[in-house]
Amino acid sequence: MRKSIPKHLRKIESDIDKMRIRQKDSNSLKVKDAVFDEATLKSLYHLSKEGVIEALGGPISTGKEANVFLAEGKDFDLAIKIYRISTSTFRAMEEYILGDPRFKSIRHKKKDVVFAWTRKEFRNLLRAEEVGIRVPKPITTYRNILVMQFIGEEEKAFPPLKYIHLEKGDAKEMFETILKYLNLLYSEANLVHGDLSEYNILVNPSTLEPYIIDMGQAVTLEHPSADAFLKRDLKNLTRYFRKYGIEATDEQLYKMLKTKNDPED
Ligand SMILES: Nc1ncnc2c1ncn2[C@@H]1O[C@H](COP(=O)(O)OP(=O)(O)OP(=O)(O)O)[C@@H](O)[C@H]1O
Ligand SMILES: [Mg+2]
Repeated sequence: MRKSIPKHLRKIESDIDKMRIRQKDSNSLKVKDAVFDEATLKSLYHLSKEGVIEALGGPISTGKEANVFLAEGKDFDLAIKIYRISTSTFRAMEEYILGDPRFKSIRHKKKDVVFAWTRKEFRNLLRAEEVGIRVPKPITTYRNILVMQFIGEEEKAFPPLKYIHLEKGDAKEMFETILKYLNLLYSEANLVHGDLSEYNILVNPSTLEPYIIDMGQAVTLEHPSADAFLKRDLKNLTRYFRKYGIEATDEQLYKMLKTKNDPED
């Protein structure tokens, strides 16, 4: 297996080892071989040389579009989200980006679209953070790699909202906090999340503080589908909290959000 790795790649691998970008357990080695192609190894090497990454931990998640790894940063733990270049949802990415005035000038090569997508998630997180929404602190991007704060404890990521059982009172508070975040996102950051669900909200199980994650597909309000995405986000939210006896409907929330921000309508 090792013999098939080209010489120059082995060199990068050993450089990475020297830079203490190491695998913490043999388990993650498999994923590493499958996921880290030569370009990604070089990018990781770059981030390590820049002092962003001190050591690479195991995989947190292996998804359709991206893989997320734990890493050691200078001051705190990091989550490293590595977007696939050969993603099957490339077309969808292109659509999201084409409607976004911030990305007018990108060439439409696959790689460029993925890099632009990575930067988009970084900027979206930054905007969300600036208006006071609890999100993973974005650190930097390099090519198809997004580096952000790790949301978890002792190398274990906080669970998604989906796997947290809430008492009634806590559920109401959680619902209101998430609604407040959606409102801030819309009216202050001028963004719509676009993929809000019980999977893209991580919850600190001790404090029950929610973190909104996965903002690659979030769009500005000028985007032709912004309104449709907002409606879908609100629908997901009300659907999820109905099981806790929260009766608000997505139409109500939509109206409230709209009148609040655009009283003329
Ligand atoms: N900052 C973070 N801290 C801790 N865990 C994270 C962080 N970001 C992402 N994760 C973990 O990785 C998973 C996938 O991340 P994310 O939702 O951003 O990617 P995705 O593109 O939706 O991936 P998928 O295709 O698996 O849905 C999350 O559900 C979460 O468990
Ligand atoms: Mg997700």
